[in-house]
Amino acid sequence: MGEELTADTMFGYLERLPEQFTESLGLDLRWAEEMPRRYNCIVVAGQGGSAIGGDVLRTYCQSRLPVPVLVNRDYRLPACVGPDSLVLAVSYSGNTEETLSAYVDALCRQAHLVAVTTGGKLAEWAAHDGVPVIEVPPGFMPRAAAGYLFAPAALLLERLRLLAGVSEEIQETARVLQERRATLLPAVPAERNEARQLAARLAGALPIIWGAAGSTEVAALRWKGQINENAKSPAYYNVFPELDHNEIVGFEAPEDLVRRLALVILRDRDDHERVVKRMAITADVVGRRAASISEVHSSGEGLLARLFSLMYVGDYTSTYLALEYGINPTPVQAIDELKARMAQ
Ligand code: PA5
Repeated sequence: MGEELTADTMFGYLERLPEQFTESLGLDLRWAEEMPRRYNCIVVAGQGGSAIGGDVLRTYCQSRLPVPVLVNRDYRLPACVGPDSLVLAVSYSGNTEETLSAYVDALCRQAHLVAVTTGGKLAEWAAHDGVPVIEVPPGFMPRAAAGYLFAPAALLLERLRLLAGVSEEIQETARVLQERRATLLPAVPAERNEARQLAARLAGALPIIWGAAGSTEVAALRWKGQINENAKSPAYYNVFPELDHNEIVGFEAPEDLVRRLALVILRDRDDHERVVKRMAITADVVGRRAASISEVHSSGEGLLARLFSLMYVGDYTSTYLALEYGINPTPVQAIDELKARMAQ
């Protein structure tokens, strides 16, 4: 595997992820004291690398907030959004058309709005509309700024007294990621580097990532996106228990097709006991026919640390997979081209 290839930038970004969490703790959110403390729903509007933090927030809030947190990856917002709602418009570049459209929709519905961005039109429009902006440091790829894009939203909900203990969990996340980083860095040889071993197993196959509904689901989605964008490979994800009711049947396909599928199961200590049993039986039934089947375990105490620890292994695995394919993990030409053509 040639580390001398062009991954320096992506590895450089990945290495700084834990510190994004600690830095975010210094955000000045005093302005939020003026905001209401009750909402009928909280919506994170964003796409791709800017939306994934919303999914983590949604997962985190599921058992902690009495109101729903929704992630809106569309031009229009759902009907529940109105003057009693909080909408976070998150766009790293500040120029993503779906997010800008959702921002305008939120404004028209008189929702409480906050923008999270490095600049672009979103920052300009927010300044004009008197909408608070949480500034994110520039110079990253959006998907490499997951800490900067997630932490402000969670800290805002803590500042609004909607959530408690977020700062502590963010501190723990940074610590757990630092520990995990020490085992994932390019300097760590393959025998001791879980991500390198996973990349070697995924190379030449179609990765399928399985998580558990409502928890590690978000990490599975992140793995899929990171394999797409870093390794420039198709990848798919699904969740237990739902996949046991349809996807497993697909493994009865002709052998040479199934032999091209590489499975990764994301495991967490809070997986429901019946899901744990399902994972074992499913792995036994379908795993024998696939190219490979691997398990990745979360680390840490709090849910945030556990989810980001799984995601971090996926970040590194997808970057090592790019190296396996001899390609640069950093640029995303297809996305850039599509955005340019949509702007014409
Ligand atoms: O990873 C990426 O580059 C994309 O998924 C972007 O995050 C996505 O296109 C949205 O752009 P932005 O994050 O600038 O709003």
